[in-house]
Amino acid sequence: MFYQGKSKVLPHLFQPFHLGKLELRNRLVMPPMVTFLVNESGGVTQRMIDYYAERARGGVGLITIESAYVLEKDRDMGRLGIENPQLLVGLNELAEAIQEEGPELFSSSTTGGASSVSIRGKGRTS
Ligand SMILES: Cc1cc2nc3c(=O)[nH]c(=O)nc-3n(C[C@H](O)[C@H](O)[C@H](O)COP(=O)(O)O)c2cc1C
Repeated sequence: MFYQGKSKVLPHLFQPFHLGKLELRNRLVMPPMVTFLVNESGGVTQRMIDYYAERARGGVGLITIESAYVLEKDRDMGRLGIENPQLLVGLNELAEAIQEEGPELFSSSTTGGASSVSIRGKGRTS
C-alpha cells in the first residue's frame, strides 16, 4: 500500500490533482526513462510490463512510459516502437497493467528528425 497521508514539508504532494480531464491520485510523476526491456522488434515484453506494474503499485499518480519511435527508420536496439499495428497489442497490455494499479499513463514518442544518424550503421536516416 502506498503512502496516502499528508507531508508536512509538501502538504499537497499526496493529494489528488486534476490535470485537465484526468484525476491523478497524487502529484508524483514518473518521467520517461528508456528501460531496454523491449524485444528485438521494439515490442513490449512481459518483463517490461512487470517493471512498469511494479512502479505503478509503488504509488505514483502518473507514469510517462519511455519514449517510443514512430518511424521504422528510427528503430534502434532497445528502444520501444509504436510504428506498426502489431506493436499495439503489447502496448495495450502495458497500458492495462499500469492503469489497473491506479496511475494514469502518458506515452511519449520521438523521431530522429531529418538529419538524425542511425546507430545501425546506415548513416543519416533520411
Ligand atoms: C536512464 C534514463 C533514461 C531516460 N529515458 C528517457 C526517455 O526515454 N525519454 C525522455 O524524454 N527522457 C528520458 N530520460 C530523461 C528523464 O526523463 C529525465 O532525466 C527526468 O525527466 C528528470 O529530469 P532531470 O534530469 O532534468 O532532473 C531518461 C533519463 C535517464 C536517466
